[in-house]
Amino acid sequence: MTRPRVFVARRLPDAGLAPIAAECDVDVWPDRLPPPADELRKRVAGCVGLVSLLTDKVDAALLAAAPTLKVVSNFAVGVNNVDLPAATVRKIPVGNTPGVLTDATADIAVTLLLAAARRLGENSTDAKEGRWITWEPTGWLGCDLVGRTVGIVGMGRIGFATAKRLHHGWGMKVLYTARSPKPDVDRELGAKHVDFDTLLAESDFVSVHADLNPTTTGMFGAEQFRQMKRTAVFVNTARGPHVDQPELAAALRAGTIFAAGLDVTDPEPLPPSHELFTLPNCIIAPHVASATTGTRDAMARLCAANLLAGVRGERLPHCVNPQVYE
Ligand code: GLV
Repeated sequence: MTRPRVFVARRLPDAGLAPIAAECDVDVWPDRLPPPADELRKRVAGCVGLVSLLTDKVDAALLAAAPTLKVVSNFAVGVNNVDLPAATVRKIPVGNTPGVLTDATADIAVTLLLAAARRLGENSTDAKEGRWITWEPTGWLGCDLVGRTVGIVGMGRIGFATAKRLHHGWGMKVLYTARSPKPDVDRELGAKHVDFDTLLAESDFVSVHADLNPTTTGMFGAEQFRQMKRTAVFVNTARGPHVDQPELAAALRAGTIFAAGLDVTDPEPLPPSHELFTLPNCIIAPHVASATTGTRDAMARLCAANLLAGVRGERLPHCVNPQVYE
């Protein structure tokens, strides 16, 4: 019997690749860099399953070129690289990997928040480059965390895990935006659902956890940075396009806000010559929020489970366009 043919757009941890290979005829893209669009199109044509990464654009043209495709399994929780309406029209379920990367991502949000607040990028570079000449009473002063206010933009799983760490660890007061108030969160963290303007004005730390969609793209621009406190620290572990980057750079340069910690940028990778890398009050990580061995293994297992369910014609354990089943 012929085995279902699937394309896997990068080498995944074995925890995901092994179960896929046990059932399918697998073509794994061998390079470190993503397949170019025309190569992706060629490889997916004739496949029943595709494992994509957030760096692979799964658009209407790609789906049209793959009439036998029965499932797209994205190796990420975010699915902004996939044209969901186009997949839904074709009745192709799209899977993602929620839950398993929540803790790792919240850990990076807190890491960046601390690093930006305590100027770790700047002072460790200074130390390495010979500018640590003595212990100075007023050198490299950062901001305290205890008892301050964090504003969580998008109180989903990751926003909640981040808020929990900051509330229970540093006694922070939690404000948040979400489509509607979340009584459980309010109860557990003493948190308060507020409008975006209030969050910006009252928070000492602002951490972004919203989905990227047309209403959240560019939601942080000049006006929003102006509304924040001059002492505020801005953290983004969601998606780069939430932020108008030239305006963030301008705000950091002018001292409109104190500092920023970013795990995501636009574009990715950010060119090494980019202005944000030159600003001492901006610390940038190369989109590593889910990058722990355990988390990537768990993502790979979930990604394989989604793919295999789709290949077998079963409902995906985590499907972002369940309308395909209606
Ligand atoms: C990473 O950014 C993800 O969406 O999983």
